[in-house]
Amino acid sequence: MIPLKRRKVVPTGAGNTGSEETSPNKFPQVVLFLLERKMGASRRAFLSQLGRKKGFQVEELFSEGITHVICENNSGDEVIAWLESQVRGRGRATAHLLDVSWFTESMRAGRPVEILDRHQLQQQQIREVEVVVFSAPSYACQRRTTLDNHNAILTDALSLLAENAELSGEDGRGVAFRRAAGVLKGLPEPVTAVTQLVGLPCLGGHSLRVVKDILENGASCEVEDTKQSERFKVLKVLTGIFGVGVKTAERWIQEGIRGLQQLQDSGRTLNRAQQAGLQHYEDLNQHVTRSEADAVAAVVEEAVASVLPGARMTLIGGFRRGKLTGHDVDFLITHPEEGREVGLMPKVVSWLESQGFLLYQKTTKNSYLEGEDGPARPSSNMDRFERCFSIFKLTEEVNGEGLKPWRAVRVDLVVSPISQFAFALLGWTGSKLFERELRRWAGHKKAMSLSSHALYDNTQRRYLRASSEEEIFAHLGLEYIPPSERNA
Ligand code: CTP
Ligand code: MN
Ligand code: MN
Repeated sequence: MIPLKRRKVVPTGAGNTGSEETSPNKFPQVVLFLLERKMGASRRAFLSQLGRKKGFQVEELFSEGITHVICENNSGDEVIAWLESQVRGRGRATAHLLDVSWFTESMRAGRPVEILDRHQLQQQQIREVEVVVFSAPSYACQRRTTLDNHNAILTDALSLLAENAELSGEDGRGVAFRRAAGVLKGLPEPVTAVTQLVGLPCLGGHSLRVVKDILENGASCEVEDTKQSERFKVLKVLTGIFGVGVKTAERWIQEGIRGLQQLQDSGRTLNRAQQAGLQHYEDLNQHVTRSEADAVAAVVEEAVASVLPGARMTLIGGFRRGKLTGHDVDFLITHPEEGREVGLMPKVVSWLESQGFLLYQKTTKNSYLEGEDGPARPSSNMDRFERCFSIFKLTEEVNGEGLKPWRAVRVDLVVSPISQFAFALLGWTGSKLFERELRRWAGHKKAMSLSSHALYDNTQRRYLRASSEEEIFAHLGLEYIPPSERNA
């Protein structure tokens, strides 16, 4: 064997100092990086020096050119997570992740030894390094979220935890889980390892733990426990009654009520909405299909045309976003001539009532008036359009034998003046998370206040007019996102 000293005289490329301490780079295919984490700074410095002496290229900083990452006492997961954070946004990392034993054996051999299984930080995790690392902007209104959800198992789990938080009055936690689910809904392919999510916004430790549990064990204990919990089940049943909110359900539970039959037998006084809700419980907890939504649309269209020719009706809510089912059907009504829409809602409702289409309705008055230079500033996000919450009696066109000839369907109607139509359309198309994020973006990023009535610029101290959704997105400095991509 040729003594090391002799090799040192071989001329090499740039980058070698030729000093006593460093041998020329003898192995151009191998670029080492020693991970300081757990190895410690002094041992790392010692090993790096040793490597260079033996003719290895050992880099101080991590870069894409690194071929071998040397680690000591780290788990594959930890190194992968670290590595992902280094290559974030640049797609894939393909370096070998090796235990320090490969390095010490190579030092002993004076050349890079063959990489054996025992050198690798878990075979299966090596493959994970080669999968896509996702990235996404932080506001849902900056993202395009179609109904094509590749991570429904994960987003269903997070949505369930969000629902449970909301049912427990923990709205902040609810929003956090909704945001996390929103990010995952927009990913272009299924998540296979939690390390792919390093660097994604809105995924807090809690959400990541749930995702990790599901990816590694097929289920999350927290989610399964929540699903099975008596409290969650009862709250779901009781708030599933139209007209019953969390507060009422809580009170009933405290009074010992555990189900619908018990509620009915208890002889409690229910308001009109709750009575209707209980009466049509089955129907209202069954999804509305797209064809049922179309059937409702035809009825509303006829009502609107009969009471005010020229008035226009638009499908909003989930069905406008392209959903195939919904918990209700939502419509926005306006008239191209400002002011003609005044008094329209009571007329539509009377027509529907006279034709026997309504099982229940409650109309709320518009208290939102146009001022001199724009609508009065909204004092809250609460909408003040004329609205009608109703339950339709929908006659089913196609009936199998033995089916009842009609079903109850929740229908929401909203009337807006044409001057606010674009804001109403944007505000009522949803999703709820998308709307929330639009308002957050407007406030935090643009110093603007967005509602379903108007957009106010706090810097210019004036309202910004818009006659289309596109114009509103432009005012907000956002790329236009069509309804079908607002399914965050
Ligand atoms: N909305 C609102 N004020 C309410 C209720 C709803 O502004 N008091 C808005 C929501 O922000 C959403 C839209 O109305 O943008 C539709 O709400 P909803 O019907 O509850 O949800 P969908 O997205 O239509 O979902 P689903 O298919 O389950 O009905
Ligand atoms: Mn809806
Ligand atoms: Mn609705």
